[in-house]
Amino acid sequence: MPKEGPRIQAVPGTPSVETETTLPEYLALRGEPVEFRALIRQISFAAKKVAAELRVAGLQGMLGGTGRTNVQGESVQRLDEYANAVFVNNLLRSPAISDLVSEEIPDEMHLARHHLGQYALLFDPIDGSSNLDVNLALGSIFSVRRANDVLADGHAQIAAGYVMYGPATVCVLAMPQHGVNLFTYEPSIGEFLYTRGPVHMPAEGAAYGVNEANAAGWSPRVRDYVAWLRGPAEHATRYSGALVGDFHRILIKGGVYLYPADVKNRRGKLRLLYEAAPLALIAGLAGGRAVSEDRDILDIRATEIHQRVPLILGSRTEVDRFLPPTSPGAAAQRP
Ligand code: F6P
Repeated sequence: MPKEGPRIQAVPGTPSVETETTLPEYLALRGEPVEFRALIRQISFAAKKVAAELRVAGLQGMLGGTGRTNVQGESVQRLDEYANAVFVNNLLRSPAISDLVSEEIPDEMHLARHHLGQYALLFDPIDGSSNLDVNLALGSIFSVRRANDVLADGHAQIAAGYVMYGPATVCVLAMPQHGVNLFTYEPSIGEFLYTRGPVHMPAEGAAYGVNEANAAGWSPRVRDYVAWLRGPAEHATRYSGALVGDFHRILIKGGVYLYPADVKNRRGKLRLLYEAAPLALIAGLAGGRAVSEDRDILDIRATEIHQRVPLILGSRTEVDRFLPPTSPGAAAQRP
């Protein structure tokens, strides 16, 4: 597990300075290259704008649908469009980026003619849009890769994270060399401040999250698994309808989230590149795990940018239990 990084000298008797370290200062302290820091700055800037808009959207008539559907066939909310435009406009300003993949844009955007950047950014500008009109937690999810690695397996991710717009706006940033760290937005100074890390997910939790209305369309294996969670494992149900909020609970308290395949969503519902893979990297670095039906999410190569995948995500104990003992993923984990 990554060790805690350098601490800034604190004046005796004052609060730990580490907790007042801003996200850009944190990355500089960890020796991250200037291009990467610039990229994270653009992401956090976009997230601050989205957070500000979410606070007043109801007052400004920004809630509700646009009447259009996106490339996934899902209805597009006004704030989906707004958040996508904010992210794209900010990221276009970053010369560090040469490729963008957004949930809201049908094709990958190649910026190479204008940008000499080395990074691809894959993102979901607003995850959990059905929570928009009811003022519940939402998130933005992102994954950073090298420009040539857009479709590569999830181990190719250089960094992944999300911003959760809840009672507090928090940014969770995962990097293989530094683990998972959490920053909280302090609106009075306009900065994300280091709050805790490296974060370790509990090996087991007491809750699971799944849309049980789909149960009739699940495979017998998924039905048995959920029956185990509810019965012998004595887990409570916690499902908000927004992946970032549900995952954040699991990151802090342990447990499992699942969106398996069902008769309506034969390949699962969630998108591999900008939902499942980034959260799998975060979970893995925090000591948890993410699998599809029979393999680790991080081992899956994408064949197209909006590919869907079944997802079982969370604490080791619960996720390991889902894998049949004969599957290659299980064999790797259980000698
Ligand atoms: O598109 C992703 C998403 O909105 C997730 O944030 C959420 O967990 C899931 O879909 C909810 O889907 P459903 O409404 O089918 O339960």
